[in-house]
Amino acid sequence: MNTNMYLSLDFPTWEEAKGFIDTHEFHGVPVKVGMELFYREGPQVIEKLKENNHAIFLDLKLHDIPTTVNKAMKNIAKLEVDMVNVHALGGSEMIQRAKEGLLSGSISGHKTKLIAVTVLTSMDDEALKNELRLPRNLHDNVLHFADFANQNGAEGVVCSVHEAKAIKELCGSSFLTVTPGIRLDDSDVNDQKRIATPTFARENGSDILVLGRTVTKAANPKAAYNKVIEEWGYGIKS
Ligand code: C5P
Repeated sequence: MNTNMYLSLDFPTWEEAKGFIDTHEFHGVPVKVGMELFYREGPQVIEKLKENNHAIFLDLKLHDIPTTVNKAMKNIAKLEVDMVNVHALGGSEMIQRAKEGLLSGSISGHKTKLIAVTVLTSMDDEALKNELRLPRNLHDNVLHFADFANQNGAEGVVCSVHEAKAIKELCGSSFLTVTPGIRLDDSDVNDQKRIATPTFARENGSDILVLGRTVTKAANPKAAYNKVIEEWGYGIKS
């Protein structure tokens, strides 16, 4: 199974997510389940997707005190998904405890990768400076978060394509760069700020693409998905 592209199931219900998969023949493709679907359907949605042979990135972006995140991760480990994430802004201890929770919660020994969100791809330099009042520019902050996520047990980060190359240089080639904000040339940008094409993602060292509205809102989602594969350069055409 090719797991370097996850299709975002950003739908309000399982019925709608399943309808999308069936209508556009996305059976068995790796998928990302985020807050919208998970908060409605709960852990059962993960079981249903696994029964249908989908690899899963559980995008819940945990951000709480270390003990709470640790206990949540113990439960998440039992779902046996490929990857789950936390906000790097939760700090080094929270990341360490998240990792411990994933390791100790697994019953079968299944290893769920821990990924840290650096700076959301919907934010830009302006927002970091004027809203969050973080010192330094966005690029430096993303690199800093990636570095300490790496040092505290995360296996990779969510970042934009624009930062992927610098992160690989800083954290090593096996440290994963998971990149949302992917847009085909003719797609709407929506609320994202740091977007990139699949071609640029390939050139700039992304390991894993997260595909959302560029596919789900396309006039022909399957054609858009295949166009991403063509540009991205590796993957399975189905
Ligand atoms: O539709 P679009 O391509 O913008 O979707 C991006 C998906 O990736 C959404 O599900 C969003 O929640 C998620 N995501 C993101 N930025 C992050 C982490 C996840 O956009 N840093």
